[in-house]
Amino acid sequence: MTSLDKRPGEPDGRGAIEISGLRKSFGTNEVLRGIDFRVGPGEVVCVIGPSGSGKSTLLRCVNLLEEPTSGSVNVVGVDVTDPDADIDAVRRRIGMVFQSFNLFPHLTALGNVMIAQRKVLKRDKAEAGRIARENLERVGLADKIGSYPAQLSGGQQQRVAIARALAMGPEVMLFDEPTSALDPELVGDVLGVMRGLAEQGMTMLVVTHEMSFAREVADRVVFMDAGAVVEEGPPARVIDDPSHERTRTFLSRVLDPAAARVGEGE
Ligand SMILES: Nc1ncnc2c1ncn2[C@@H]1O[C@H](COP(=O)(O)OP(=O)(O)O)[C@@H](O)[C@H]1O
Ligand SMILES: [Mg+2]
Repeated sequence: MTSLDKRPGEPDGRGAIEISGLRKSFGTNEVLRGIDFRVGPGEVVCVIGPSGSGKSTLLRCVNLLEEPTSGSVNVVGVDVTDPDADIDAVRRRIGMVFQSFNLFPHLTALGNVMIAQRKVLKRDKAEAGRIARENLERVGLADKIGSYPAQLSGGQQQRVAIARALAMGPEVMLFDEPTSALDPELVGDVLGVMRGLAEQGMTMLVVTHEMSFAREVADRVVFMDAGAVVEEGPPARVIDDPSHERTRTFLSRVLDPAAARVGEGE
């Protein structure tokens, strides 16, 4: 997918997510120090960077789980920092997937994918059930609809969480390290689902340490450090030929964690 693949009704050149001059402080700690970038309709942008650099805070500002201190965040054509914006309506157009799956343990996969559709979108039981089945099928879990979270692997639980977000019909999906809590052998299935979504034209902003995913799926990679975008560009450029020393240092740690651990002991 490229930014040229516009969706119907999407004005030309308008980003699905446009972030400009975004700053966020917690007390005296300035965590985001003026962030600017855009995700075009149908684009996949991966955000990489060290722990504590502000990646989660950035995503949380996009769907207003955090209120920006200044700057603007425009999502699907709505300025979410405008006090008059209908935030609940905008949030419904944004799907979010976190590192932790947060499924209800007493509900089956089907029940977990139905509940927000019923409560938030007021869909009737039959429609919510039909849409839940479709989306569980889409993430490869047609045979697990009656399973409870405790009966599912971490990777399957995360795929239920993705189906739950998709069932709400989002125009944009935000992922915050969706595979970081998974055993290595379960990561591939989740990334496979995300790759499928990207191929179907979903607009995605993904925080990840999975460099092979970023390299193969992202249209652009954004490297953040200490609350600022250090560099951004096509994955082949940022990952394989970074311009900045900080990016190189980070990548060498992520791509070769054992070497980094040895370095830490010095
Ligand atoms: N709710 C909060 N209150 C105070 N400080 C916070 C809060 N959320 C995040 N921070 C701080 O913001 C910085 C960036 O955190 P975060 O966005 O989670 O980074 P990352 O996701 O890149 O690891 C960290 O120093 C963290 O301690
Ligand atoms: Mg984080």
